[in-house]
Amino acid sequence: MTHFLDIHKTDPVALRAILDQANAMKTARGDRPKGTPDDDLPLAGRVVALIFEKPSTRTRISFDVGTRQMGGTTLVLSGADMQLGHGESIGDTARVLSRYVDLIMIRTYGEEVLTEMAEHATVPVINGLTDNSHPCQLMADVMTYEEHRGPIRGKRVAWMGDGNNVAQSFLHAAASFGFHFTFSGPEALDPDPALIGLARKAGCEVRVERDPRAAVADADLVVTDTWVSMGDAESSRQRRHNLLRPYQVNERLMEAAPSDALVMHCLPAHRGEEITDAVLDGAQSVVFDEAENRLHAQKAIMRWCLGV
Ligand code: CP
Ligand code: NVA
Repeated sequence: MTHFLDIHKTDPVALRAILDQANAMKTARGDRPKGTPDDDLPLAGRVVALIFEKPSTRTRISFDVGTRQMGGTTLVLSGADMQLGHGESIGDTARVLSRYVDLIMIRTYGEEVLTEMAEHATVPVINGLTDNSHPCQLMADVMTYEEHRGPIRGKRVAWMGDGNNVAQSFLHAAASFGFHFTFSGPEALDPDPALIGLARKAGCEVRVERDPRAAVADADLVVTDTWVSMGDAESSRQRRHNLLRPYQVNERLMEAAPSDALVMHCLPAHRGEEITDAVLDGAQSVVFDEAENRLHAQKAIMRWCLGV
């Protein structure tokens, strides 16, 4: 079964093939209306279940529209409305869904939910974000960087703020795509040290730099994300804001970065918190290309999972 569970669990050759296909499909589509089908319909006759246990705008809509463009149909499901949210086991849910649909995408809290779903499903499972990682986002991010600046191999990404799920996927991606990574945030919110070890073992130079201005000084790409993720306790909000405020991506910080460094944010952004309007809407920001590329990258991920 070809699941897409995490960047580091997917063969780097396959990751590159997925991005090549995403680029080819994006080019072939051009700017035709969003609701018109692609020239070939690799998902014709296929049903894709999109399960959300957390909110989503980009993931939900890009998977839904992408499936339709490739000739398939979708079921967008809220975990809370399924028996899954009322005591049915993940394993039984996976076995049942596998009898109805051809592909499952799930956004959930604990990574163990995803793992168990994949273990019991007899159709491919895609990780649409967990508390630990967000691999689909990273495929779009690498695609976007390369679209603007060429190969990401050997470049340096500076992550500002919380060592959250997206930061952790950056570490996975650093190992697979061969870029260097600087984490800049408070020690209390460091990413999993095992992932820093994984990236270093793969030959990446990983720096942990508490000074945000020093962190961006040699960055090719500056990235940030929300200070309070969907899996974080609401009671931690104030503490997180206090810890993370020095790591805001603002114009002053960007003065310390190379003038050609790009800026990314997976969105949704909390303008005035982790990033200011001036940077998000500024010339170095590629956040809306990044959001668009979720669509193209995930179409290629779905094709790879289904072998079509
Ligand atoms: N970036 C991202 O995954 O956005 P959504 O939460 O809107 O899906
Ligand atoms: N880190 C964020 C990403 C949202 C797409 C969260 O998990 O809420």
